[in-house]
Amino acid sequence: MPATTQLELRLASRMSRLGTETAFEVLNRARQLEKQGKEVIHLEIGEPDFDTPANVIEAGVSALHKGWTHYGPPAGLPDLRQTIADYVSSTRSVPVSSEEVVVVPGGKPIIFFTILALIDAGDEVIYPNPGFPIYESMINYSLGKAIPIPLREERDFSVDVKELASLITDRTKLIILNSPHNPTGGVLTRKDIFEVAEAIGDRNILILSDEIYSRLIYDGDHFSIMSVPGFKERTILLDGFSKTYAMTGWRLGYGVMPAPMAQVVAKLQTNATSCTATFSQMAAVAALREDQSAVDRMVAEFHRRRDVIVDGLRAIPGFQCARPKGAFYVFPNITRTGHSSRTLADMLLDEAGVACLAGTAFGEFGEGHLRFSYANSLENIEEALRRIKSLIAP
Ligand SMILES: Cc1ncc(COP(=O)(O)O)c(C=O)c1O
Repeated sequence: MPATTQLELRLASRMSRLGTETAFEVLNRARQLEKQGKEVIHLEIGEPDFDTPANVIEAGVSALHKGWTHYGPPAGLPDLRQTIADYVSSTRSVPVSSEEVVVVPGGKPIIFFTILALIDAGDEVIYPNPGFPIYESMINYSLGKAIPIPLREERDFSVDVKELASLITDRTKLIILNSPHNPTGGVLTRKDIFEVAEAIGDRNILILSDEIYSRLIYDGDHFSIMSVPGFKERTILLDGFSKTYAMTGWRLGYGVMPAPMAQVVAKLQTNATSCTATFSQMAAVAALREDQSAVDRMVAEFHRRRDVIVDGLRAIPGFQCARPKGAFYVFPNITRTGHSSRTLADMLLDEAGVACLAGTAFGEFGEGHLRFSYANSLENIEEALRRIKSLIAP
């Protein structure tokens, strides 16, 4: 065996199982093209292009001046945990107490900590595919068995309950739901959720319900599995401030779960980050308690853009596009262009200067689709549509 040198990086084998989020890679590639002088329209990254509401910024700045610059309790500041408990009680129509809330830096740590806390080698986790890539990454990292539930266009990207029932086994420990959904914008209706709950029945299975886009809905209402009688006790709700209040850089999210599980998640947080930035948490209290009109304005603007991008994509030969009910993504079917998702995404970036993601960035069942984020100005969306059209049908 050749001798190792001091400089050789000897990673733990678990690192080979960790995936990533392609959005950040495409963003880097787009930035490189921009450095070379190319003008790129960014429809790849999933963050609101709006500013954090002024009152929330004010609350954060004021907290810094008042000395909220130190460690806080791992599970979050008591005032914020109570504010979140009140908010979730009223939006999900179930009583929630502050001991059931853990505040973390962004929604992502709830995925990370939940899977680390629950999944042993061989435990099965059912997760949406296409879906947010971090689910599959974390299941594999924890040596769990990743069981995809395909979300299909013909069902408006909702869960096929019969298929779900057929995937549940004695080893199923966790089922991940995500509504409104990244990358398709699909929304599970109240009826869908009740059917999913019925398929799960009274088995000892936990549900990680990723509701980070819960306020970004254009048709219908948000409904959480947490609101189904008997399910609050088995649900880990993920929500946060990144999307609703355009606060991606503040790193603020939370989980709501049975109190014993909240203690475990807080312990992981103690090991990982100690706590969420305390001035961010003070801003979060203002975000939830104060005027919501900035959110209403942002949702109305996303609604307008959704219609423009859907209508525009439908007018491009080879593109078929469902009108999603939520989030800020469209997921057109591009099979009739004759290109694979990856090839077309690369062509759009290199030849048309439009950055988007291949459907396969969200799992194998995303083939045949592209994901465009419409978190960009109407003007840029319209220009992107013109560029795509002239590339596809010159
Ligand atoms: C479905 C889903 N869950 C969780 C997250 C993570 O959000 P955060 O930036 O708050 O960590 C994202 C972000 O894109 C997402 O799309």
